[in-house]
Amino acid sequence: MSSLSGRTAVVSGASRGIGAGIAAALAAEGVRVVMLARNEAKLQERSRSLKGSIPIACDITKPDSVEKAVQRIASELKGAPDILVNNAGIFGVSMVEETSTEFFIETINTNLVGPFLLLRSFLGEMKKRSTGHIVTIGSVADRTIYTGNAAYSATKFGVRAIHEVLRAELRGTGVRATLVSPAATDTEIWNAVTVTDPAGKPHSKRPMLDPEDVVRAVMFALTQPERVNIDELRLSHS
Ligand SMILES: NC(=O)c1ccc[n+]([C@@H]2O[C@H](COP(=O)([O-])OP(=O)(O)OC[C@H]3O[C@@H](n4cnc5c(N)ncnc54)[C@H](OP(=O)(O)O)[C@@H]3O)[C@@H](O)[C@H]2O)c1
Repeated sequence: MSSLSGRTAVVSGASRGIGAGIAAALAAEGVRVVMLARNEAKLQERSRSLKGSIPIACDITKPDSVEKAVQRIASELKGAPDILVNNAGIFGVSMVEETSTEFFIETINTNLVGPFLLLRSFLGEMKKRSTGHIVTIGSVADRTIYTGNAAYSATKFGVRAIHEVLRAELRGTGVRATLVSPAATDTEIWNAVTVTDPAGKPHSKRPMLDPEDVVRAVMFALTQPERVNIDELRLSHS
């Protein structure tokens, strides 16, 4: 396993759930982590317990907000990070005819446009340095469709496509790209969702992965020797 000590990272959606876990694991390995999310107070509270971490409020759906955050990141980290974890995301379930325009656009902007904006901001410098690692948090829904998932799946199929293009463009450059695609994981993302069975009846939550299961997968990919690119990791409940 390669040591990450002394490296720098940007983790989006680091105020809770999977992103908070990834930020904590990286900080524990001696990585200087920039933590991004919209809720500044929550972000700062999380960041206080992570040595060397830098909380930066950013709404990844807004290009201006991303641009400002990128400028601060460049000044705090003296350039692009060594690691970018595109994790922030939203989720909702509704049948196509009941999906509002606002929700569809918000999901596309958060889960697809936001990760693209962050990626594009740092990739050029990573390629020039011939080192860097882009981790994309996909989903089981980046290959499999579920009813009620039109907006979410459209974005997750999309980020997987971007990851695959990226992997092809980066081959031989020294910059690595990994897609980590978890099944249902027990985080607050589910709070607003009523889980239904195939007949559409609400039923109690299915067994879920723990956020730490996803964190371990991300850390596995990040700590491989530089010659190894973990292209894709897919996690499902046993
Ligand atoms: N949990 C699951 O079952 C599951 C399964 C497969 C894949 N995933 C994926 O894993 C990733 C993390 O999900 P999670 O379950 O950890 O969700 P979560 O607990 O709801 O956390 C989402 C994080 O994203 C941030 N965020 C949301 N919108 C944002 C925006 N516009 N700009 C910046 N930050 C934003 C949130 O902070 P603020 O609200 O403060 O901005 C929060 O830190 C997502 O990409 C999700 O699709 C989750």
